[in-house]
Amino acid sequence: MPNSLIDFRDWSPTDLEKLFDLSFHIEKEKSVSSSGNHLLRTAALLFFEPSTRTRISFESACHREQISATVLSGKSGTSLEKGETLEDTVLNIAAMEPDVLIIRSGSELDLHQLRQKVSQPILNGGWGTHSHPTQALLDIRTLLKRGQKISDIRIVLVGDVKYSRVAHSHFELSRKLGYQVAVCGPREFLPSQSDVTVLEDIKSAMEWGNVLMMLRFQLERHQQTHRQNDWEKYQINLQKLKAWQEKGWLMHPGPINYGIEMDRDVESYPKNLIFEQVNSGLWIRRACLRTVLK
Ligand code: CP
Repeated sequence: MPNSLIDFRDWSPTDLEKLFDLSFHIEKEKSVSSSGNHLLRTAALLFFEPSTRTRISFESACHREQISATVLSGKSGTSLEKGETLEDTVLNIAAMEPDVLIIRSGSELDLHQLRQKVSQPILNGGWGTHSHPTQALLDIRTLLKRGQKISDIRIVLVGDVKYSRVAHSHFELSRKLGYQVAVCGPREFLPSQSDVTVLEDIKSAMEWGNVLMMLRFQLERHQQTHRQNDWEKYQINLQKLKAWQEKGWLMHPGPINYGIEMDRDVESYPKNLIFEQVNSGLWIRRACLRTVLK
């Protein structure tokens, strides 16, 4: 099994299957202490960008795996404020010998380059617009738990696909595992790859897909401002979902801009999996920790 997860390039379909199996096995374990083979391990969680779900679930996964977690959350109060670079910050923390580095950062840190410079495994907790592999894994695990077969999964990524690291990890993971992915959104928010199926509107997305993966409009990453009507055509609400109920799951990696990509009334949609995704994150991240710390 690979000793880091930055993206899926080193992970074979068999490695990924083992990871999913391990996450289901961990969920069935009766007590926290049954996994006591990682006593006295330490993890450094270096979250240079904001996070709720990923940071807390990695932290919680560490506690439940009996791994002591040290958390750096945000740049404030660190020597980054004195001009130290992100890479130097990570290298200094790596010198304190944590057993694993869990990192969320912007693109200014090169995780592949960093991997050559540290001896510890690296787990990517969301890297710029490049990748967010544990999010893609937890999304697929959520669908597996609901009985979907991988080969039947057809995910439509809706909205701000271009800037979405979750979308980029799904493009990569879908090629490894064999599920289908399409995109739907305003033209300027779509990725430049020519090999991605583009669906013109939500109606076509619902006809093609069995999962709508709504994506947050990442206004903080955009160079220019956009008019609201650029994206309101792609908004989802309960009324639109009702016609589709038998066929499709609603997902969103969070955080959600209610009123922009979705109305709040989608909370009552029976096939809304958003909190199940969050729950899956715990088991996937425990499985990742156990895999790279073997
Ligand atoms: N999905 C996700 O990465 O959420 P956070 O930014 O809250 O971690």
